[in-house]
Amino acid sequence: MVSKLLALEAYPSLKDLDFRILRGVELNMRHHRWVPLEDIARFARVDVETASFRLGKLDNWGLVVRRSDIGYIGYQLTIHGYDALAIRALAKKGVIEAISTTQIGVGKDADVYVGVTPSGEKVAVKFNRIGGRTASRRAGYHGHVFQNKRHTSWLYVSRLIAKKEYDALLLLSPIARVPRPLAWNRHAIVMDFIEGRELAELRDDDLSREEAESILDRVLEEYLKIVRFGIVHSDLSEFNVVLTDDDILIIDWAQHLTTAHPESYEMLKRDLNVLINAFRRRWRVDRKFEDFWPEFKSAWEESRGEGNDD
Ligand SMILES: Nc1ncnc2c1ncn2[C@@H]1O[C@H](COP(=O)(O)OP(=O)(O)O)[C@@H](O)[C@H]1O
Ligand SMILES: [Mg+2]
Repeated sequence: MVSKLLALEAYPSLKDLDFRILRGVELNMRHHRWVPLEDIARFARVDVETASFRLGKLDNWGLVVRRSDIGYIGYQLTIHGYDALAIRALAKKGVIEAISTTQIGVGKDADVYVGVTPSGEKVAVKFNRIGGRTASRRAGYHGHVFQNKRHTSWLYVSRLIAKKEYDALLLLSPIARVPRPLAWNRHAIVMDFIEGRELAELRDDDLSREEAESILDRVLEEYLKIVRFGIVHSDLSEFNVVLTDDDILIIDWAQHLTTAHPESYEMLKRDLNVLINAFRRRWRVDRKFEDFWPEFKSAWEESRGEGNDD
């Protein structure tokens, strides 16, 4: 489903005070499920009436939600409020100057929009949505890491995952075909915009079998370098490979594992199977998992320092 960047509709109307208030809600969500109005007012250094008035506006814009049946008046930040804070921070740092309201990429776990830097470069801004639509699928995260902070978990988890992807892109972009990251704030990352099409978007007759074969080879050549470097994608599929005019890129590194992680071995097998099967199904590319596995297995072992030296 294509979603609009709601934060942008409110954004031009937001004053410095509104951002202080949003920040007050954000910070206090570490301690409260519903942040008391008084705490927000104190943080924003305004009286309770002023805070309450601005919070009413922020509520109308969908940036916070209010609750009064809990013995006091309390507020929570919404994902749109979190977006507004991230956009503001990225704009203040001079990373982005503008961002579009319409979504470019519709992925499973994120919404991606086009942005422009102050020097006019086109960038992709990816907002993680992990706490919202996929909270139950990622219950493991919530359960383990954030047991005592359940009410703030979506803030923490979506931030953590954005940071994780940013780190992977930073490590990999000098050595392999992945987008170059420019910045990270909260649950958002900014990276080079890729002109191209996802493999999943292509129709079966857009590629000949020979073209498909050489694309598969290129993807696996890049992936082998990456595995040797010590990283396993863990969500590789035709949805996360982009075909550009002259090459390919592997995107969506939010779920990567290092090869030191015990599950990375099975994930690597799965990645290869998913990709090879997609090419067989769609373009009749006659390659088998076994054709590639020995090379990938030894790259995986080497990266863990397990390779033998003979
Ligand atoms: N750097 C980029 N440039 C252009 N489009 C992008 C970029 N990154 C992602 N997209 C688009 O957004 C979609 C979702 O991004 P992705 O990183 O795969 O997140 P998700 O976890 O939601 O699948 C991609 O399939 C692609 O169409
Ligand atoms: Mg994806």
